[in-house]
Amino acid sequence: MKPRIGAAEIAARKGKPFPVVTAYDAPFAGCAEAAGIDVVLVGDSLGMVVLGYGSTTPVDVHDMIRHAGAVVRGTQRAHVIVDLPFGTYEASDERAIANAVRLIKEGGASSVKLEGGDAIAPRIRAIVNAGIPVCAHIGLLPQTAALGEGFKTRRAREALVRDAHAVVTAGAYAVVLEMVDPAIAAAITSEVGIPTIGIGSGPDCDAQVLVMHDVLGLYPNPPKFAKAYAGLANDATNALRAYAGEVRSGAFPARRAE
Ligand code: KIV
Ligand code: NA
Repeated sequence: MKPRIGAAEIAARKGKPFPVVTAYDAPFAGCAEAAGIDVVLVGDSLGMVVLGYGSTTPVDVHDMIRHAGAVVRGTQRAHVIVDLPFGTYEASDERAIANAVRLIKEGGASSVKLEGGDAIAPRIRAIVNAGIPVCAHIGLLPQTAALGEGFKTRRAREALVRDAHAVVTAGAYAVVLEMVDPAIAAAITSEVGIPTIGIGSGPDCDAQVLVMHDVLGLYPNPPKFAKAYAGLANDATNALRAYAGEVRSGAFPARRAE
């Protein structure tokens, strides 16, 4: 069995655009890999797009382990980044390391992601020192946006640049830039030596990430920056309507010829 793509291999892709997509289960993760996407993110967006919560806040480490396992089982070579959910890394380095270790050992994660820049840099450093690669995530931070500034406020340029340098210094191998002004995202991308993975942050990031359900047209309220490449919610409804109609009419299952 060939080994999975490692964090160092992703770090080395700096400067060459690459796609990242979220996945939460085995079949869709397998589709991503079959499509040639070799970096998948088990995001805590799981809470909203799959589990039906209104935010990512209720997602716990066990949810992430369960879904990470499915994504890992559904892929062979892909690098599987798994989010540390809200409340699992803030309190101390020890808790952050313990929960990151669980995502690796019990979930099969290739690396972990956590939200925050300057303020959370010590946690990144601690997890990296424990031997676990960390993808950082700065800009809009969904885990705390709902509790504080909201989803509209954008961080000031100086703060974002400081965050970017802080996560690099702490040892992150890549950094997600969420809803960062495209000009600032471009500046950060040219300043830092690790790949930037943009979402709603313009075309000049090293990589792009989208939520699987937005790409496939499965989610009813996709964000403006996303692009649907299919309309699977419609297709699914039509398929189910056809099935229901055939059961009601007696067309399915077909009678075997005597
Ligand atoms: O949880 C998630 O899906 C994410 C991406 C949107 C970056 O963190
Ligand atoms: Na997330």
